[in-house]
Amino acid sequence: MTQAPVNVTVTGAAGQIGYALLFRIASGQLLGQNTPVKLRLLEIPQAVKAAEGTALELEDGAFPLLAGVDIFDDAKQAFEGVNVALLVGARPRTKGMERGDLLEANGGIFKPQGEAINAGAADDVKVLVVGNPANTNALIAQSHAPDVPAERFTAMTRLDHNRALAQLAKKLGVTVSDIKKMTIWGNHSATQYPDIFHAEAAGRNAAEAVNDQQWIENEFIPRVAKRGAEIIEARGASSAASAANAAIDHIYDWVNGTPEGDWVSMGVPSDGSYGVPEGLISSFPVTCKDGKYEIVQGLEIDEFSRGRIDASVRELSEERDAVKQLGLV
Ligand code: NAD
Ligand code: LMR
Repeated sequence: MTQAPVNVTVTGAAGQIGYALLFRIASGQLLGQNTPVKLRLLEIPQAVKAAEGTALELEDGAFPLLAGVDIFDDAKQAFEGVNVALLVGARPRTKGMERGDLLEANGGIFKPQGEAINAGAADDVKVLVVGNPANTNALIAQSHAPDVPAERFTAMTRLDHNRALAQLAKKLGVTVSDIKKMTIWGNHSATQYPDIFHAEAAGRNAAEAVNDQQWIENEFIPRVAKRGAEIIEARGASSAASAANAAIDHIYDWVNGTPEGDWVSMGVPSDGSYGVPEGLISSFPVTCKDGKYEIVQGLEIDEFSRGRIDASVRELSEERDAVKQLGLV
């Protein structure tokens, strides 16, 4: 081992994403093969026993990079000294629940977790919110962590980004690594806008290579935006391994950097770029270097893209207004 272990806190550790995520973190895929990790698992009291079972399996993996596993049902303890926080556990929408009820129930989770991060996190903490509604949950947590730089709170749209790469590669008969500069704009919801107008496929502009606006509007965009629902319909449960995979990609790139000539999508606090109101946690194209990300600047946004971005950002503004009214931000 070449350095001190990095503390990685995972909430919702006994859930289905948690189960797909923890073993990959332990194997070094989150931070790299030279970085030992200490896992700190947070669960609700009823699920602590299941988390303990997962910890037994982690032990049985004999992972050389795994420096320890601790399990908590208290957020303050779980986030003590945290360097990387993966906020996966959330309250799913159940029958009869209105949108406001869902936001309120999640406020009950992400407010205390934001406070706990504020109280105990390491100076270099990086936070990724996976639990839905991810962008607005990230906003809630961030607004209760005033001592942590706001830009450390991010929401996951990498799964949407990866879905878009796969669909476009299939359409063009190229590999996913032939595609660069894919962008997801807006909310991790059905209003998101997967944008291929700035993407490149095997060196060509991707939209020109597709040359089929009908496919872009009526097949590609809805397929990517509604893929979560398609998975739920097919599996009888929401995406788990692909979501865990995307969380690994998000943090790995944030920490280790994005390749020259490419970018990734992350939900990050807007600085006003591309007309997205400042402070909203919205998906943008970003490059990462030295543990920091930057929103890609200077992209030309045509009328079609403008309308799509605005629609998703409008939804984010409405979610922010709703949680404001509930006193959560
Ligand atoms: P799951 O129900 O299998 O697991 C959630 C776990 O969170 C449960 O074990 C539960 O006990 C735990 N939990 C609930 N409240 C908690 C709290 N206050 N503290 C700690 N743990 C808590 O769900 P899952 O399939 O693992 O999905 C988790 C979340 O991720 C859901 O909100 C889902 O919608 C979301 N998701 C997001 C994306 C994305 O792309 N952003 C993709 C897939 C799923
Ligand atoms: C996904 O994109 O797969 C999930 O966010 C779907 C969901 O509602 O859990």
